[in-house]
Amino acid sequence: MAVDYEAALAAVQADPRYRANIRYGVPRSGHPEGSIAAHILNLEANLEQIRGRLTPEAEARLRFAIHVHDTFKSESRATDGARDHGAFARDFAAEFVDDPDMLALLELHDEPYRLWKGWMRTGELDSERLGRLAEQIDDWDQFLAFVILDSWTAGKSLEKLRWFIRAALAVRRSAIDVGWLPPYIIQNHLHELGPEDLGGFFDGWPKPPTPETHLRILEGSDRVWLARVPENGQVAGFITALTDGVLSAYIPLLEVLPAHRGRGVGGLLTRILLADLSELYMIDLVCDAELQPFYARQGFRPGQAMSVRRYGLIP
Ligand SMILES: CC(C)(COP(=O)(O)OP(=O)(O)OC[C@H]1O[C@@H](n2cnc3c(N)ncnc32)[C@H](O)[C@@H]1OP(=O)(O)O)[C@@H](O)C(=O)NCCC(=O)NCCS
Repeated sequence: MAVDYEAALAAVQADPRYRANIRYGVPRSGHPEGSIAAHILNLEANLEQIRGRLTPEAEARLRFAIHVHDTFKSESRATDGARDHGAFARDFAAEFVDDPDMLALLELHDEPYRLWKGWMRTGELDSERLGRLAEQIDDWDQFLAFVILDSWTAGKSLEKLRWFIRAALAVRRSAIDVGWLPPYIIQNHLHELGPEDLGGFFDGWPKPPTPETHLRILEGSDRVWLARVPENGQVAGFITALTDGVLSAYIPLLEVLPAHRGRGVGGLLTRILLADLSELYMIDLVCDAELQPFYARQGFRPGQAMSVRRYGLIP
């Protein structure tokens, strides 16, 4: 019988082991996003960018994998890495889904990384190991789609991803290729970001803050999500939030560069920020009446607002 992946994910998300483990992780090499929870949000944003190409069932399966694949890194660390986090993820998932291919995906999801590391070390692809991987996985499309979602993050080498996809397609055909890479890199941090990546914002402001000031605004915000152009790192859109971390948050700024508007970036950034703030009771923003339908689509309701604006103090 087909697995109900939406129900399985809801059960996973209610599980105390999942809830505790996703808090694990601090910003580090390869993972500037920090916690597993932030990594999950990052991959959710990637999934949203390619969901138009997926069946609802394929999307639900990939979302399940997103939420489970790295959730046992803390347990793996407790064994000094002797037991891989993929094996923990597989055993945990087996409590919720009867689907050997999903379990294989979870167990082997870091094999592309290991193959690449071997290639870097020896200069040669371990084609036997890649061949074994291609045999152990039943749905190669699903595996490659997941590898893209998991690797399409700031801090990971995009060249490595392209290299793996090419190698994977050489051993086994798939509908997935580099054409599936999402249009934007989404990140919740300021890794490898400078003022040179921030031109063109504050469109229409009488005295727009400079890119340097923009960077200070991002640095001073409690939460930031950026959409960046993969080819050159330019920020195409950003959203910020200020929060007390207990009850409430405020969203001061959301903007997408004019050339990138109307492609879903603004909606995606808003939804990912709302998910990032999912523990909080109240989230407020102030907008012009014409933007109310846009925010209503993201789950906001109109309300009354009072504000002070000191135009002379815009830095
Ligand atoms: C609002 C904004 C962030 C939306 O970004 P985006 O990436 O284009 O958003 P999406 O593609 O997810 O959604 C686009 C939809 O938003 C709505 N929308 C965007 N700007 C709008 C505006 N000024 N008036 C009315 N509707 C608007 C439209 O319905 C649009 O749909 P369309 O593409 O079919 O016309 C972007 O237009 C922007 O940066 N505007 C200037 C800054 C701003 O107003 N920020 C909000 C501060 S509260």
